[in-house]
Amino acid sequence: MDKKELIRLAFEAREKAYVPYSHFSVGAALLAKDGRVFTGCNIESASYTPTQCAERTALGKAVSEGAREFSMLAVVGAKQGERNTLVTSPCGVCRQMLYEFCSPHMPIIMAKSEDDYVEMTLGQLLPLGFGPLNLQ
Ligand code: THU
Repeated sequence: MDKKELIRLAFEAREKAYVPYSHFSVGAALLAKDGRVFTGCNIESASYTPTQCAERTALGKAVSEGAREFSMLAVVGAKQGERNTLVTSPCGVCRQMLYEFCSPHMPIIMAKSEDDYVEMTLGQLLPLGFGPLNLQ
């Protein structure tokens, strides 16, 4: 599974986004160390607060299917019906949830297209993150 393919899967997942309020569609594709890919889209709520980001949809699907180790994440986002407009980076809540299961060295690919993306590690996005090791 290369970066381009993971980005492509994130774009595919984005098509399922349920975004009647923000009209901003996000897709994520999370590669597990066992080779499986878990995709997710954002799912909004009329009461706004329970809105679930694409990254946490993907992570929840993965953990509920028994995957807990991950090697890469791709995220794509843009206004509904548009493409390639912005680099979308995981929100703070998603960074924290990713930190629960993923290494700070894990690459996160924030893509505008399969060939145009920003790559940073989780540790760069959440420096000095508080995680499971802090409670040991
Ligand atoms: N959103 C995501 O799904 N992931 C991100 O990384 C940033 C924000 C969603 C939440 C909400 O449905 C919409 O984008 C606008 O904030």
